[in-house]
Amino acid sequence: MEIKKIGMLGAGAMGNGISQVCAQSGYEVIMRDIADEFVQRGMKTIEGFLTKSVEKGKLSEDDKKATLSRIKGTTQVSDLKDVDFVIEAVIEDLELKKQVFQEMDELTRPEVILATNTSSMSITEIAAATKRPDKVLGMHFFNPAPLMRLVEVIKGLETSEETIKVTWELTEKLGKLPVLVKKDTPGFIVNRLMMLQLMEAIKIYEEGIASIEDIDTAVKAGLNHPMGSFELMDLTGLDINYYVSEYFHREMNQELKHVTPHTLKAMVRANKLGRKTGQGWYKYDKK
Ligand SMILES: NC(=O)c1ccc[n+]([C@@H]2O[C@H](COP(=O)([O-])OP(=O)(O)OC[C@H]3O[C@@H](n4cnc5c(N)ncnc54)[C@H](O)[C@@H]3O)[C@@H](O)[C@H]2O)c1
Repeated sequence: MEIKKIGMLGAGAMGNGISQVCAQSGYEVIMRDIADEFVQRGMKTIEGFLTKSVEKGKLSEDDKKATLSRIKGTTQVSDLKDVDFVIEAVIEDLELKKQVFQEMDELTRPEVILATNTSSMSITEIAAATKRPDKVLGMHFFNPAPLMRLVEVIKGLETSEETIKVTWELTEKLGKLPVLVKKDTPGFIVNRLMMLQLMEAIKIYEEGIASIEDIDTAVKAGLNHPMGSFELMDLTGLDINYYVSEYFHREMNQELKHVTPHTLKAMVRANKLGRKTGQGWYKYDKK
C-alpha cells in the first residue's frame, strides 16, 4: 500500500514537529488534538518555523504555502478514518496511549500501521490494545523533529518484519536517519543513556556540588554536548522527563537502581513544566 496520507495524534511539541516533517516531504497530514486551541497552537508553531526558514533563505514562500496546505488540523477522530499510516504523539501516559491505539484500531483500515512516538514505554503493551499487534511499532523522533535527524524504529514482541520495512522506508523518505531497536525495552537506546545522565545532573545539583549553570557549562564544554542537561530538560518539558523517570523506576529499578530526584518530582507536581529553554530549571534557580 502506498502511503499518501498520515494521521498524527497530538499537536504538541512532537505532534506539530512531526506533522511539519511529513508535510515538507510531500505527505498529506491530518493532525488531531483534543481541543481547538491545541490544534491552532500546533499550526501556529509550524507556520512560525516555516516563516523563519523562508527568512533565512532555506525555503521558498511557495514551498511554505504548499507545506501548510498539506496539513489539516482537527479535533475530530473520525477525520483519520482513511489515513494510510498513523503516528501517535499524545502525552507520555500508558493508559491514554492504549486508549488511542484501541480507537485507531477500530477506526482505520486493518492494513494501516500504527506507530507510537513514546519516549520510553512498552511497544508490546501499547500494541496489545489493538487487534493488529504485528502492525504496531515505535517510531521515536527527537525534539525538535524538523531539525533532529535520528528516528529510533522499535520492534515490539509481535511487530512484523514488513511493518519494520515499511516504517524504515518512510523514515528515510522523511529525510531522517533510522536505527533499529531490536528489543522492546524502556527508553530504547537514546533515552536509556540520556535519562541516567540527566537524573545524575539533578542529583549533583541537589547535593550542592555545583550550580545548574556550572553543571550545564561542564556538560557543554567538557562532554561537547550542544546543550546542557538542564537546558535540555527545560526544552523537552519537565513533565516528560518525570514520566520517563518514573517509568524507568517502575520497570528497571532492579537493573539500574533508578530513582527520580526529589526536585524534579516537586517541580512537576507544582506544575513548573518548562517546554522552552529557560522556562523550567533556569526560571526557578538563578546562580
Ligand atoms: N518533548 C520531547 O522532547 C519528546 C521527544 C521525543 C518523544 N516525545 C514523546 O512524544 C509524545 C508527546 O510529547 P510532547 O512533548 O509532544 O507532549 P505535548 O504535551 O507537547 O503534546 C501532547 C499533546 O497531546 C494532546 N492529546 C492528549 N490526548 C490526546 C488524544 N486523545 N488525542 C490527540 N491528542 C491528544 C495534548 O492535548 C497535547 O497537545 C510523548 O509520548 C513523549 O514522551 C517527546
